[in-house]
Amino acid sequence: MEAYLQDFLNMLLRWLHVIAAIAWIGESIYFVMLDNSLRPPKAAEDQRKGIFGEMWAVHGGGFYHNQKYATSPDKLPNDLHWSFWKAYTTWLSGFALFITLYLANPEFYLIDPSANWAWAANMTGWQANLMALLFLLGGWVIYNELCKRLSPNMERDGMLSLAVAVMMVVVAYLSTQIFAGRAAFLLTGAVMATAMSANVFFWIIPGQRRMVKAMKAGETPDPLDGKRGKQRSVHNTYFTLPVVLLMLSNHYSFMYSHEHAWLIMTLFIFAGALIRQFFVLMHAGSIKPAYPAAGVALILLNVWIAAPSVGNAPAAGDEATLAAASVDGGASLERVHEIIDARCVQCHAQSPEHPGFTAAPAGVAFDSSEQIVNQIAQIKQVVASGYMPLGNMTQMTDEEREVIAAWQAP
Ligand code: HEC
Repeated sequence: MEAYLQDFLNMLLRWLHVIAAIAWIGESIYFVMLDNSLRPPKAAEDQRKGIFGEMWAVHGGGFYHNQKYATSPDKLPNDLHWSFWKAYTTWLSGFALFITLYLANPEFYLIDPSANWAWAANMTGWQANLMALLFLLGGWVIYNELCKRLSPNMERDGMLSLAVAVMMVVVAYLSTQIFAGRAAFLLTGAVMATAMSANVFFWIIPGQRRMVKAMKAGETPDPLDGKRGKQRSVHNTYFTLPVVLLMLSNHYSFMYSHEHAWLIMTLFIFAGALIRQFFVLMHAGSIKPAYPAAGVALILLNVWIAAPSVGNAPAAGDEATLAAASVDGGASLERVHEIIDARCVQCHAQSPEHPGFTAAPAGVAFDSSEQIVNQIAQIKQVVASGYMPLGNMTQMTDEEREVIAAWQAP
């Protein structure tokens, strides 16, 4: 019952999280498009009023005329539309999800018992939880310091972008060395998502509040506040595509269970940013196909890197593996079934015995031989990569992994 309620709560939180994220990212993409689509106003009166750009649009059966002021309008209306709750709700619901799933089950989801770094493989649940929180906090602190030190007056944008890109490679690398692959992808996405929300919370909104306050007092707002808000929101726009991909990566173990998962993750992050760049420029009226082409090239590179090295048969020349398998009675279906029964079925059954699950995880059940045969390709992949059994809870041996790898479905 408890696991069921936890599952239900998890589903509701995820629903909220996705809805809030769609609203936030949608608005953010809309405003980048709007900003880049502004053209000098045609009417002389608009120019006199200090309007810097305008955009005409038709949407939902009506015509819209957006105008942006170069500095501040003569008079601010009281019902100014602010955007921040979408960002905060996205972060808060995401963090709550992270707690109910990962921090509540660090042994399952955070710790990688086969991590290269022994201390990481041997973390206790609490240490892993603390490490995950430090990761999020550290990511924000370092990103924020980079912005403040490299670009105190919003100059050197190029160098700052480069520094943030290098930082993301380091985050991707460290996360995959310290945490289980699935958590590593999620945490790297969460580092970016935290920077995005914190940009809104600590810089963009306070800056806008200062601007409004100054205008209401009849003073000229500090132009740095506006420029900083713009800089941070431009960073946010390049984070959006990679973040969404990393959040979805959860469902694709080929991404995160690879031995070079950090490289796969890095290439995807850059691919997302490059594709975003195309749209940013497109809205400003410049079509530069080289950006999406480079993004697609990185994705294709990943298709090649992430291709399973252990497919339906052991790699050619892997005599020892074949020998081990045949010594073991030629790996009959019965033997494979026995192994799956011993190592997987606690969790992967219609009604799992494992107290942490109320239904087959990821919808994958091995109650019958037929189910095993039907899903053998997937079984081979997750067993060879070490992703399953989760956290090697059921202590599957290397020899058993070899039997699965060598077995040919009838
Ligand atoms: C301790 C519980 C547990 C054990 C034991 C376990 N799994 Fe899983 N398995 C899970 C969970 C939880 C998921 C869903 C994780 C996710 O969403 O990525 C999963 C997902 C999977 C998937 C789907 C992966 C994907 O890409 O969506 C496959 C296939 C799988 N397991 C196979 C196995 C095999 C084969 C074994 C035994 C060698 C095994 N599992 C043992 C908990 C377990």
